[in-house]
Amino acid sequence: MECTDKLTPDMIRTLIGGALTARKMSYSPYSHYQVGAALLAGDGRIVTGCNIENAAYSPGCCAERTAIFKAVSEGITSFKAIAIAGSPRGDVLTQYAYPCGVCRQVMMEFCDPEHLQVIVAKSEDDYRITTLRELLPEGFGPDNLAADENTDVKE
Ligand code: THU
Repeated sequence: MECTDKLTPDMIRTLIGGALTARKMSYSPYSHYQVGAALLAGDGRIVTGCNIENAAYSPGCCAERTAIFKAVSEGITSFKAIAIAGSPRGDVLTQYAYPCGVCRQVMMEFCDPEHLQVIVAKSEDDYRITTLRELLPEGFGPDNLAADENTDVKE
């Protein structure tokens, strides 16, 4: 499946299910805001993550970055979609939890912003889909640092 392929309804349900399951592992004793994420890799694998907080606060990590860093650490660097399920503690999700700015920037590093589909879900039947491009317009990414063939810079 190429990046441009539309996600099937079954795959959307699978990804949301993965995010909801990962959310159960949320370690969030300070905010009590529980988040799970499920990444669909380019090769079809699914990698999940949850938010992990810390008594010193700043070392905490969002669910999206936990999933992305897990994947990258296993050699998976191409992604087609990510489902996110976040809400205050409780089995019934009350919010569509859009990714924070830091997570959007980390997605920008590994994903084609035009095609990375971001699913924010309250349940398998209640979700919204957008793209990273819509969430991070004019974002800065690896392409900005790629060699510019029109400039002749000698270092
Ligand atoms: N959180 C995420 O996991 N993902 C986001 O995109 C936003 C926030 C987590 C971080 C923290 O553990 C809790 O939600 C409250 O901010």
